[in-house]
Amino acid sequence: MQVIDSIHALRERLRDERSVVFVPTMGNLHEGHLQLMRIARARGGCLVASVFVNRLQFAPHEDFDRYPRTFEADREQLASCGVDVVFAPDEAQMYPDPQTYFVEPPPLGGQLEGEFRPGFFRGVATVVLKLFNIVRPQVAVFGKKDYQQLMIVRGMVRQLALGIEVVAAETARASDGLALSSRNAYLSASERAEAGRLYRTLQELRSRLVSGERDFAALESESVTKLTKNGWVVDYVAVRKQSDLQSPRLVDQDLVLLAAARLGKTRLIDNIEVSI
Ligand code: PAJ
Repeated sequence: MQVIDSIHALRERLRDERSVVFVPTMGNLHEGHLQLMRIARARGGCLVASVFVNRLQFAPHEDFDRYPRTFEADREQLASCGVDVVFAPDEAQMYPDPQTYFVEPPPLGGQLEGEFRPGFFRGVATVVLKLFNIVRPQVAVFGKKDYQQLMIVRGMVRQLALGIEVVAAETARASDGLALSSRNAYLSASERAEAGRLYRTLQELRSRLVSGERDFAALESESVTKLTKNGWVVDYVAVRKQSDLQSPRLVDQDLVLLAAARLGKTRLIDNIEVSI
């Protein structure tokens, strides 16, 4: 496995590759990331992973500075998954000038996560497009854990005709259901014991939809109340359509339940799909 930190050297390395499969990450890798690598590995071709904590997608008050950076451990895990090339640029390499050209996401980028993290999807879409331009993959793998991010990347690829196949990977979870995330490391022991409730709350919501309940607003607000009673500060619990993440009508069948909430200082997100 090669580790490359410059755009020029990466382009040289990939110049004669006929098929490149790409998995972008911000490092601090866990089993969720490694599943993406295995799915990507199974596609054949040259497997490129990137590790870059992208300042553009963090608001000034967010955790850019304390985001966990564990490159040596990441490198070993990537090697064990059969990654061929790790692209690990520093900020000077990715942003030699302050970035003033951006990808402006559609209105969806201002909803759900975008409502509580203004500018987040602009930062994500911009760095993902830039990474795509550097790596020029045929296939890229993203996790459903970040469902809205996946939708926004898919839309960008389609509308900007990038010609990349975007593959979605299921969410990897701990035994209590908590979605694996680099940010779980911020949780105290008691918060970690509580954290599984987010997934359980979505599962209960799903059961009630499956058993025929259709008052989406009431189901959402009951879920919020349940979390709040247990010490969570909830940004949203939302029943949306899988196709465009807009509010469903009664005839819509393929739904996704999304939630974001804080336990102490740690903000967690999760989602599950349901077909009714
Ligand atoms: P990061 O949070 O490191 O996630 C990298 C990829 O791993 C994303 O596609 C994410 O959805 C996926 N992932 C994270 N946790 C997962 C889990 N528990 N199960 C399955 N997949 C999981 O997402 C980003 O980085 C950044 O926004 C990035 C796309 C790299 C742009 O900076």
